[in-house]
Amino acid sequence: MRAIVYTKYGPPEVLQLKEVEKPTPRDDEVLIKVQAAFVNRSDWEGLRGTPLYARIGGILKPRHQILGSDIAGRVEMAGRNVRRFQPGDEVFGDIQGRMGGFAEYVCARESALALKPASMTFEAVAVIPQAAVIALQGIRDKGQVQPGQKVLISGAGGGAGTFAVQLAKLYGAEVTGVDNTGKLDFMCSLGADHVIDYTREDFTKNGKQYDLILDVVAHRSAFAYKRALRPNGSYFLTGGSVATIFQILLLGPWIRGTTGKKMRILAVQPNLKDMVHITELYEAGKVIPVIDKAYPLSEVPEALRYLGEGRVRGKVVITV
Ligand SMILES: NC(=O)c1ccc[n+]([C@@H]2O[C@H](COP(=O)([O-])OP(=O)(O)OC[C@H]3O[C@@H](n4cnc5c(N)ncnc54)[C@H](OP(=O)(O)O)[C@@H]3O)[C@@H](O)[C@H]2O)c1
Repeated sequence: MRAIVYTKYGPPEVLQLKEVEKPTPRDDEVLIKVQAAFVNRSDWEGLRGTPLYARIGGILKPRHQILGSDIAGRVEMAGRNVRRFQPGDEVFGDIQGRMGGFAEYVCARESALALKPASMTFEAVAVIPQAAVIALQGIRDKGQVQPGQKVLISGAGGGAGTFAVQLAKLYGAEVTGVDNTGKLDFMCSLGADHVIDYTREDFTKNGKQYDLILDVVAHRSAFAYKRALRPNGSYFLTGGSVATIFQILLLGPWIRGTTGKKMRILAVQPNLKDMVHITELYEAGKVIPVIDKAYPLSEVPEALRYLGEGRVRGKVVITV
């Protein structure tokens, strides 16, 4: 089968389109003919090997030679212990632990997969597993957003952010989106009440405070984020610099003890129920997956470069 392979960390040029052996499913896995795969920031981080957490399991060279964790496709073969799926079923899911989505075929455990609703395209569901689940767990589960609360989403024009803005609005919040100059109108179109251009304004220094901050690109000090929280407010970080992550881990409990402001890392758990819930919201017309561009498999390097250059609005998808 054809796959996009890399054996060392680096720029998109280290990726090569190669013929590799088609994977064989284990007893609890299915073999999927990939129809669409989603390009996440975590793929970009895994390609570059930075931030440092992107090297977990592979300090010097990549643990997985094929990137791609969010996939949608058709079941081609099922392992003998698989109960929920059979050949021909259309599925989607998050295969973070295994990766390998930028290929014609991939194996995945049945527990990681949900059935694709007939009303949604492969491209639209491929957007859901990581990005929408981060947003749902951040806004609904951890953030417990209530009507009237002030919510700020940092990275609101990206994959997780576009869902987070829509979900926070759905739960009745007043939403501020932060992203670059080119994405301000886009964030408004998603429903953001206020927008901040991160290249011109630092939201931690403008005197405004929020009940919840969901940050997918954290790089400031823990004290800066604390300043932007209302009393009893919460800050959740899903990605960012290693320095900020350590600060939140080390200082978060102390800040909470002394001020009542919650500061935590949001460790997102892949979750089938959440994936299905998002498809229901989609079918009810309450959220929309935003796809900026689609690339063929052979152009995964260009797709990753486009993401890395910071031009993506919403998400980039690979059609296989
Ligand atoms: N915690 C967990 O369990 C978990 C699980 C999976 C993934 N993750 C992480 O969660 C993050 C998800 O990100 P994503 O997929 O939504 O990324 P994305 O699609 O790349 O979106 C990030 C957005 O943030 C913008 N941005 C960059 N710097 C910014 C700044 N200083 N202030 C505000 N916005 C800024 C980017 O704009 P530009 O275009 O200008 O760069 C982009 O629009 C990744 O870091 C991933 O590794 C965490």
